[in-house]
Amino acid sequence: MKVSSRLAAISPSETLAITSKAKALKQQGVDVVSFAAGEPDFDTPQHIKEAAVRALKDGQTKYTPAKGMPALIEAVREKFREENGLEYAADQIVISCGAKHSLFNAIQAVCDDGDEVIIPSPYWVTYPEQVKLAGASPVFLPTREEDDFAVDPERLAAALTPRTRALIICSPSNPTGTAIPRDRLEAIARLACEKDFYLISDEIYEKLIFDDFDLVSIASFSTEVRDRTIVVNGVSKAYSMTGWRIGYLAAPSPVAKAIAAYQSHSTSNPATVSQFAALAALTGDQEPVAKMAAAFRERRDFMMKRLGEIKGVSCRKPAGTFYVFPNISALGMGSKELAGELIEKAKIAVVPGGAFGWDTHIRLSFADSLENLGKGLDRLRDYVEKANVQ
Ligand SMILES: Cc1ncc(COP(=O)(O)O)c(C=O)c1O
Repeated sequence: MKVSSRLAAISPSETLAITSKAKALKQQGVDVVSFAAGEPDFDTPQHIKEAAVRALKDGQTKYTPAKGMPALIEAVREKFREENGLEYAADQIVISCGAKHSLFNAIQAVCDDGDEVIIPSPYWVTYPEQVKLAGASPVFLPTREEDDFAVDPERLAAALTPRTRALIICSPSNPTGTAIPRDRLEAIARLACEKDFYLISDEIYEKLIFDDFDLVSIASFSTEVRDRTIVVNGVSKAYSMTGWRIGYLAAPSPVAKAIAAYQSHSTSNPATVSQFAALAALTGDQEPVAKMAAAFRERRDFMMKRLGEIKGVSCRKPAGTFYVFPNISALGMGSKELAGELIEKAKIAVVPGGAFGWDTHIRLSFADSLENLGKGLDRLRDYVEKANVQ
């Protein structure tokens, strides 16, 4: 049977596929170390789970407004005000089923057939597919490793065309861990105002930032910039709540209203119990977030040290997230071939950079215990030494 040409053009998420493959092997009893995880390995903090249980006991089991319940919208407004210096009216916020859903809505809201959306590469796997689903074309803007994979405003200026509708930025970034420095964001914002395109800013890894990096939301530079930016965030990564499926966005009123109407005909409200949990996450004790970020920083340093000892592999230090993105080009094969070799011969699962449009690298997640990370890195080192590929 034929599927629509719209969906026939979409590839399944390669990162999710690798995670499932590693899980399946583990279930068969194979001792696989997985560097593929796209989610924190910590449990959701207790007070958040308790808030959800309380909500259920109180009978909070019905629909909320499609764009999210007012108390959560208020909490999101407060978060933007306090943490990002961003003022939004309640009708500018929409709560959705994960940041992925918020991004999907945002792209649907601003793109028409034939528009171009600029996506810096390496990019998160989902962006190009979501752009295609909106009838627009992804235009890739390669960054440079020697530039820490940060978007270069001059190169961006050269990539703009009259059909450019939006630029998607992700800082700190999945897969590179790069955070975009303030001066570059300012130059990007200036270009967006001058050339009149939307900025879609994916800030889902905002809380996982290290070494006092001066992280700013691009929307916060001026009201002019804010009024052309859609800021996407959520509770998945910061509060270890990937399974609860709550993301949110802030957008110019007409865009947010269009998204709310669209959502009212697609998913309706995200799960009510999850909204109560997200409310507790945003308004409750933030100590667990700080603890998680500190654990990730320690692991980042461990990964850097151990990868630095493997000849033939080089790696930039990520400013945030729980990913490192080492260069494996000296090993003499592409990322997909290497990922296949590693799972088969070294029993470690990694995500090939090819999935992010960058075949000379692999992505290693450090959302795992130091012990498991160490075990996996021993296997990587042994594989590289044995293969004699340096
Ligand atoms: C860059 C980026 N944006 C958005 C998301 C989606 O997050 P959520 O689980 O809230 O949909 C992810 C999850 O992997 C991500 O890596």
